[in-house]
Amino acid sequence: MANHGYIPRDGRNLTFLTIYRALKECYGLSTPLAIVLTLGGFILIGRLPICLPFTVPYMFAARNPDGSRSQPGVIDLKLVGRHGRVEHNASLVHEDCPPGWIYPSIKIRQDWVKKLVGDVLPPVKGYGDAADEEYDISTYAWKQFTTKAYMGTLVSEADVGRMRARRERESQGSMTDFNREIARGEMAIILGVWERSEDLEDGKVKKGIPLPYLLTWLGEERLPEGWKPDHVQGLRDVDRRRKAIQRTAEATVLAQM
Ligand SMILES: *[C@@H]1O[C@H](CO)[C@@H](O)[C@H](O)[C@H]1NC(C)=O
Repeated sequence: MANHGYIPRDGRNLTFLTIYRALKECYGLSTPLAIVLTLGGFILIGRLPICLPFTVPYMFAARNPDGSRSQPGVIDLKLVGRHGRVEHNASLVHEDCPPGWIYPSIKIRQDWVKKLVGDVLPPVKGYGDAADEEYDISTYAWKQFTTKAYMGTLVSEADVGRMRARRERESQGSMTDFNREIARGEMAIILGVWERSEDLEDGKVKKGIPLPYLLTWLGEERLPEGWKPDHVQGLRDVDRRRKAIQRTAEATVLAQM
């Protein structure tokens, strides 16, 4: 949201209202959903979601992990990245937080972005070709899957479930059940933002989001060019998709045991 100016690009001085409004404008989230996410975020990082008038803020100023102080009701984006709160291990495209670190690296593993394509079923054309097996940490090889030709390749709840299961298997870092819920929840939201359906070759219909959208969102933290929300997504939508992701993730883990 910062990359597109929905919140200040420097990520500083965010209030409840800034984040709440940005979630609605940027992603088309319903009022209750935007409130739950914003409030939940403030609570998870241990901050008051309300601004206090005048001198009161200085009495209640909260201490940041780096020693600086912020007035109540105002947070920096960096704080949202504090590990173990909203931020979690086994991210799809970020490395685990090293032991003892407060803020993990925000660097995106570009090779892992490409690996996501391998979790999509039916298999995506052009993925896993022999010449293609080498991964380079820093190359944007995934961009070959963001061309117009791949707009009809949809990523479903089940595909995301397989991505989550794989990352949780690969990751050495520990995760609480709550971390897992957040990891599934954030993906459930984005699935709801861009969902559409496509006819498969076998006559079945697949629902999901365009592969290029997902890769660009995760790999470059960018929204699709010229795209604007076209519907409102509510709490129940997120809950339903979150559960669908969980079903496949758990079934995948069981199948591999
Ligand atoms: C994430 O993984 C690291 C490395 O194994 C570990 O030190 C840390 O405690 C884990 N974080 C959580 C929230 O479990």
